[in-house]
Amino acid sequence: MVKILAIETSCDETAAAVVEDGRKILSNVVASQVDLHKRFGGVVPEIASRSHQEVINPVIKEALETTGLEYSALDALAVTLGPGLPGALIVGVATAKAIAYAIKKPLIGVNHLEGHLFANYLQHPQVKTPLIALIVSGGHTLLAYVKDWGEYEVLGQTLDDAAGEAFDKIAKFLGMGYPGGAVLSKMAETGDPRAIDFPRAMMGSGDFNFSLSGLKTAVINYITKNKESITDDDLPDICASFEAAIVDVQVSKSIKAAKSRNVGTLILAGGVAANNRLRSELEKASKSSNIKFFYPSISLCTDNAAMIASAAYFHYLRKDFLTLAVESQPNMGL
Ligand code: KG4
Ligand code: ZN
Repeated sequence: MVKILAIETSCDETAAAVVEDGRKILSNVVASQVDLHKRFGGVVPEIASRSHQEVINPVIKEALETTGLEYSALDALAVTLGPGLPGALIVGVATAKAIAYAIKKPLIGVNHLEGHLFANYLQHPQVKTPLIALIVSGGHTLLAYVKDWGEYEVLGQTLDDAAGEAFDKIAKFLGMGYPGGAVLSKMAETGDPRAIDFPRAMMGSGDFNFSLSGLKTAVINYITKNKESITDDDLPDICASFEAAIVDVQVSKSIKAAKSRNVGTLILAGGVAANNRLRSELEKASKSSNIKFFYPSISLCTDNAAMIASAAYFHYLRKDFLTLAVESQPNMGL
């Protein structure tokens, strides 16, 4: 049995986990920095990297101690190489290198986006490749064709804002704090998604790319133009209509991608995969197109190290190991 300890520090969560054979989570520790960044209305890179330095050792210690294992029982060390904040990634990569060197175990580098996909592998043994993956997070929105685990082809991605970024910007504009995606979507639950007809950008573009900055501007313009008449009672309708505009395009393109590649499985991943409307609309559309649809539970949607350890298992099987000269790759593509 292969036991991998993984470290994730790409953005504002310091995380470590031990996973056996890519699927059995022995420990999964996440220290979120959200409270540190909240008052600045977004992630402050310097604060993120300093905080990672402060908590990384205790987080790793807890992840290992929870399993009752010694370092010597591990088969490999894994770490997120990128994409992410340069100063944040460096902390995880330097720590992983030091531990791998000290305990004489192989070092594995994982792409953060590949990690998000594996939240599905962890939880759903029925998920089989080839499949289409929709990855929606604070930093990314992309559709990928997964021929096999480890073989990815990016079909399209956002040309401007990421889905989570759009949620967070509108939430911030509405005074819902940071990160406001989840608060906004809670507010949307009681609203009418057809109340306001916001633009579905690139819906008929014929490719698999997305654009969200026009929608963001449309929502801000709508609120600014109607600010005399808008009351708190209108907020659920505004949130629901904004959310529906994002979700409609993502659902339409995901189903088209599955059909274009003739695959019968679709998976959803990333922080925005926690969104109820996105989950339920993808579920409905998949069902009517005879596509099997999977998404992770909320705790595995947002950044964690269990998903990194799971992805690392396939690298381990391929003996895809790094030398200690490796450096983090802030702009790494899938
Ligand atoms: O994957 P993640 O933890 O971090 C990145 O890798 O970027 O994603 C965080 C993003 C944030 O933008 C957050 O607002 C968004 O996921 N998010 C949501 C919901 N829950 C989290 N967006 C929409 N609806 C939600 N329920
Ligand atoms: Zn992420």
